[in-house]
Amino acid sequence: MSLSSASTNTTVTSGRTWICSSMGQKTIVALTGIILVLFLFGHLLGNLTIFLGSDWINSYAQHLKDWSPLLWTVRVILIVAVILHIYFTMLLWNRSATATPRKTVFRTHIQTSVFSRTIRLSGLVVFAFVIFHLAHFTWGLVQPEYAHLNTPQGQHNVFEMMVYGFRNPYIVGFYMMGLALLAFHLSHGIGSLFQTLGISNRRLQPVFHMAGRWIAWLLFAGYVSIPLSVFFFGLGKDLVK
Ligand code: HEM
Repeated sequence: MSLSSASTNTTVTSGRTWICSSMGQKTIVALTGIILVLFLFGHLLGNLTIFLGSDWINSYAQHLKDWSPLLWTVRVILIVAVILHIYFTMLLWNRSATATPRKTVFRTHIQTSVFSRTIRLSGLVVFAFVIFHLAHFTWGLVQPEYAHLNTPQGQHNVFEMMVYGFRNPYIVGFYMMGLALLAFHLSHGIGSLFQTLGISNRRLQPVFHMAGRWIAWLLFAGYVSIPLSVFFFGLGKDLVK
């Protein structure tokens, strides 16, 4: 065997070993988590243009459509990130389920916070929420009567879709629950990812956990401001239908 093929083999084997180790798998969960949180910030900023008026949010949505290579690049990155995030989380569950001796389960329960205990369940519910959300706004299946409205200029009328959508109390309730569970999920997830990536230490860990909670609930406040403003505070009240 030549020297170069031996070294390639070592790299491949060590890469494979890394990805099979708990550290490697946690790192992938953490990095994909960072990508998803970045998306959440970008998506929130785009959505908040609703407060600037219908022209703003409609042209923002139109720009995204016009830059379709960029849109599809982001979509592919998101889909890959979601798949890897879920797949490696499941591998880690499996690993901890087979590695945890039964008698330590009680102790682990006491030592962990409510956020870390709910992270698996909240993760599943967040996934279900995202599917519902795509069915609602992207695929137009939940309220089809509002999904295909156009502006006089022929743009997709995202403003009206959101305002009419959030006049429905069930839809608002559903979003509130989904977004609250997302915040619970992020509260623990963001705090732990610094530890996973080795950036944290015993002294900094509480700081990162607090920062994680702030980021999670800041995102929550930003997102819920939209349905609540429509439902309770008359955002888009000039629209009659
Ligand atoms: C009140 C909260 C939210 C509002 C008002 C909102 C609004 C929207 C709208 C209007 C679209 C469709 C854009 C279009 O087709 O032109 C959309 C797409 C999307 N939203 Fe949200 N969103 C919210 C929360 C979230 C959350 C919390 C997540 C993720 C956990 C999320 C993930 C997505 C994704 C993945 C898409 C598809 C983007 C694409 O077309 O590729 N959204 N959202």
